[in-house]
Amino acid sequence: MPNIVLVGFMGTGKTSVGRRISKQLKMPLIDTDSVIEQDSGMVISDIFARHDESYFRDLETAAVCKVSGLDNHVIATGGGIVLRKSNLNTLKQNGIVFCLTASPETIWRRVRRSTHRPLIQTSQSLDEIRRMLANRAPYYARADYDIQTSGLSVYQVANRIIEIFQHADHPR
Ligand code: S3P
Repeated sequence: MPNIVLVGFMGTGKTSVGRRISKQLKMPLIDTDSVIEQDSGMVISDIFARHDESYFRDLETAAVCKVSGLDNHVIATGGGIVLRKSNLNTLKQNGIVFCLTASPETIWRRVRRSTHRPLIQTSQSLDEIRRMLANRAPYYARADYDIQTSGLSVYQVANRIIEIFQHADHPR
């Protein structure tokens, strides 16, 4: 079976939804941010603090290459994975890509207190989130399916994805 790949902006619920799908379908969950942390021996915020974003993006691409060799996994990704076109192409080779979306207000409510996201500071305004979302919209549009999450529970979002996955034409 191919992988279920979850992409989407920070705070759209990729990790929680990934956990739920993994449990329901008994498919192991892997998270590219965790792979990066394990392989580099640094937490994400330290990578951004000690290096720069492009250094992080290189580690992210290496993590994509690693996880895309897997089969039958749920792969949760970092919000910026789509910024390099090749990442999505690699993930699509053996995966169906679902983009989780939410309104800027929902995202802001979910992330405003997070301390582990270097690109979202606690002072981040709703306008800054709107601006980042607009910049990234064309990249997220390359996913196979868009899944709107605002107002839905993790359970409902997971079920929607499972339903599509089970009826989709798998790449192989
Ligand atoms: C990022 C999202 C983060 C993490 C890093 C960069 C982004 O992951 O990969 O801080 O560029 O959107 P989450 O989407 O899981 O917060």
